[in-house]
Amino acid sequence: MNQSERLRVSILHGAGRENPEIGEVLQNLPYLKLFKQAVDPETFLSQHANKAPDLVLVDLDGLTQVPEWLGELINRLPASEIAVCSKCRDPDFLIRIMKLRVGSFIPLPLQRQDLEEAVARARAALQERPSEPSQIIAVTGSKGGVGTTSLATNLALALNETTPGEVVLADLARPFPQVGQFLDLKAQHTLRDLIQSADSLDAIFLRKVVQQHKSQLGVILSSAELETGFPGVIDPEALSKTLVALRTAYTWIVVDAGCWLDYLFVKLVQEADHILLLTELSVPDLQNLKKIKALFQRWELDDYKIKVVVNRYEKDYTLGLGDLESILGRPVFYTLPSDYHSLIEAINQGVPLAEVAPRSKLWRKIKGLAAELVAQSRPKTGEDKPGILRRFFLKG
Ligand SMILES: Nc1ncnc2c1ncn2[C@@H]1O[C@H](COP(=O)(O)OP(=O)(O)OP(=O)(O)O)[C@@H](O)[C@H]1O
Ligand SMILES: [Mg+2]
Repeated sequence: MNQSERLRVSILHGAGRENPEIGEVLQNLPYLKLFKQAVDPETFLSQHANKAPDLVLVDLDGLTQVPEWLGELINRLPASEIAVCSKCRDPDFLIRIMKLRVGSFIPLPLQRQDLEEAVARARAALQERPSEPSQIIAVTGSKGGVGTTSLATNLALALNETTPGEVVLADLARPFPQVGQFLDLKAQHTLRDLIQSADSLDAIFLRKVVQQHKSQLGVILSSAELETGFPGVIDPEALSKTLVALRTAYTWIVVDAGCWLDYLFVKLVQEADHILLLTELSVPDLQNLKKIKALFQRWELDDYKIKVVVNRYEKDYTLGLGDLESILGRPVFYTLPSDYHSLIEAINQGVPLAEVAPRSKLWRKIKGLAAELVAQSRPKTGEDKPGILRRFFLKG
């Protein structure tokens, strides 16, 4: 948000009746836009299910107790700054308010200057926030050749269509890193260069050294030393610092992790927000998945971030999704159809799948997978848990 942008402000009249005083003062401030108003928190949250306000003014005029629903409301609007207005000066009341994520307390009757100060604080806080929390997606698989490079490359391109310039694809696949061939790029700087400078990386330096694909996708290719990954060649802590630096520069970091299960792999999957575990529906794949599942448990990976994706899926195989689900004890996250012809054309030409087969089912499904990951990474809004606030509101 820049200084000239009008701040979107919504008012929740938390005492259950509209207080015209606040709206009147707001209308006279040219750099604000009155977005929505409601007299109960449930309606207020549903009004903001798709778009959160920059600033929420919670008017508690007439209340001498902090309502129970206030903490819940604040949690469910994580992208908004919060200001509370009240006449009450009771110390317990004020302490309870300040224990919540409330940026400003505005005394009533409302003074224009107090509101202006609260707005300035909210604007400053919003500017300091990263626009979206960054997400690391590690793409790995049940065996070599299962399709991790095809998926990592085209998934990164699909995400980049949604947020151009905000996505970087890093090649950590061993022993054969192939992102360079898939996108017809030659290494200038490599992941190894970045890892070696891990202590001094910042967003500006990163943007300089990361290669730009013509789509605006950032690409970090691999290097010979990374291919082996012997201990001593690369310090896993340096990989970790590199990932932290990448998070400051990009919203999405897609890593082709291959399935070389060494100490660098462990570090990557520990740091990742999503682990896409690609497999086919065959007995050897399922046997490998059992072993990988045991390893993931030993490495204490958070269960929710492991997402099984079935590649080259067809409904009429003897082994079905149900068999896989019962072995892994989790639902399959996504399936991708088989389309060798389109994919091999793209790989051989060194271009995105979207360029050779924009209407193919495989590309559409990869875009769907990207959309699913984007949706999962959004902060939860008011629609997700209907009823809870009503309960609190009635009680409070
Ligand atoms: N959904 C699919 N339909 C048809 N062919 C596919 C599909 N996914 C991958 N392939 C084919 O499988 C082959 C291997 O793909 P890819 O190189 O992406 O796998 P990989 O797991 O990265 O392999 P490696 O272990 O060598 O790094 C390629 O020829 C690719 O075209
Ligand atoms: Mg590969």
